[in-house]
Amino acid sequence: MRRAKITALGTYAPPKLLTNADLEKMVETSNEWILERTGISERHIVEEGKATSDLAVEAAKRALAQRGVEPSTVDLIILATVTPDMFFPATACLVQDRLGAKAWGFDILAACSGFVYALSTGAQFVANGSAKRVLVIGADSMSRILDYTDRATCVLFGDGAGAVLLEPAEDGEPFGVIDFLNEVDGSGGTSLSMPGGGSLHPATEETVKKRMHFVHQDGRQVFKYATRKMYEVSMALLERNGLTVNDVDVVLPHQANKRIITAATERMGIDPSKVLINIGRYGNTTAGTIPLAMQDAYDQGLLKKGSLALLCAVGAGFTVGTALVRWGI
Ligand code: UT7
Repeated sequence: MRRAKITALGTYAPPKLLTNADLEKMVETSNEWILERTGISERHIVEEGKATSDLAVEAAKRALAQRGVEPSTVDLIILATVTPDMFFPATACLVQDRLGAKAWGFDILAACSGFVYALSTGAQFVANGSAKRVLVIGADSMSRILDYTDRATCVLFGDGAGAVLLEPAEDGEPFGVIDFLNEVDGSGGTSLSMPGGGSLHPATEETVKKRMHFVHQDGRQVFKYATRKMYEVSMALLERNGLTVNDVDVVLPHQANKRIITAATERMGIDPSKVLINIGRYGNTTAGTIPLAMQDAYDQGLLKKGSLALLCAVGAGFTVGTALVRWGI
C-alpha cells in the first residue's frame, strides 16, 4: 500500500460577482444581516451558457499546469458535485473529453462533503496501486439551483471549483493523505435538498410551479448538526491518529457559515490564526469550498511543505467528511 500525496492544486471561480448590495435589490435582505449571520460579502456566479464542467475543466487545467503534466497522463477522474451539467452523462465524462484525457471516471454526490469524499476515494486507488495519477475535482454551480426569491437560501451560495492531483508518495515520504473519517446520517435527508427532478418527483409543470428544482433548507437544523459534527468527527480523526489540535498547522473547513466554522474550531481549542476562512469572497460553493480554501492557505503561506492540514465538512445527506493531509508541495 502506498500513501497518496497531493502533487498539484488548481482552482477557478467565474469572474462575474454577485454582491450583498446586488442581493438587497433582489430580495428583502441587507448587507448587515448577511455579513453578520453568515460572513459573506460576495460570491462568484457562472456566466450564461456555462456550467459546472467549465469550472471543473479550468480548475483541472490549472492543476495539471502546476504539475507540468499532460491530461493524457491522468488515470482516473473523480468529480464531486450536486450541480452536474445534466443528470447524465456524469460530468466527469464531459471533463475527460474536454481535457483530452484517457482516464476513466465518475461523479460523487455528497454535497458539501463531496471534495473530502472524492479525495478519500481517489486516495484508495493510488494506495492499492490501480491508479498512478488521479484528478480529484470539487465543482459546483449553485446559482443554477437557487431560488432568487428565497432570501433564506439565495444569499448563502456561490459557484466555484478546485482540483488536486493525487500520486503515490515515495517510500518513507511523510506527505500525503494520512487518514480520513467520513460519515453519513441519512435521517437528515429532508433538512437540505433539491426535491424536484429526480425519480420521486420528475420534472412536471407542477414541480416547477412549486419551485421544487431549487435548494430547500431548514437552516437551523443544518446549522446545529454542522457545528456539532465538524467538531466531533475532527476530534475523533485526530485522536485515532494519536494527534491533538496542537499538531494541526491549518484547518481547511467547508465554508457554509462563518459562525459554524468559528463555533466548531473554538470548541476544538485551535488557534484562530490556523483556521482558513474565505467565505466572505465566495459564499458556500458546496464541493468547491475546501480546494478554494486550500488555494488561499497555500497562497498566504499558511499551507506549506510539511504542514499538517485538517479538512472538515458537513453537507446535505447528512454527509460528514474529514481528512488529515500532510502537504507536500
Ligand atoms: O453547507 C451545508 C449547507 N448549509 C449550511 O450549513 C447552512 C446552515 N445554516 C445557516 O447558516 C443559518 O441557519 C442561516 C444563515 C441559513 C440562517 O441564519 P439563522 O441565524 O439560523 O437565521 P434563522 O433562519 O433563524 O432566521 C432568523 C430571521 C428570520 O426572521 P424571523 O422569523 O426571526 O422574523 C428569517 O426570516 O432572519 C430572517 N432571514 C433573513 N433576514 C434578512 C432569513 N434569511 C434572511 C436574509 N435577510 N437573507
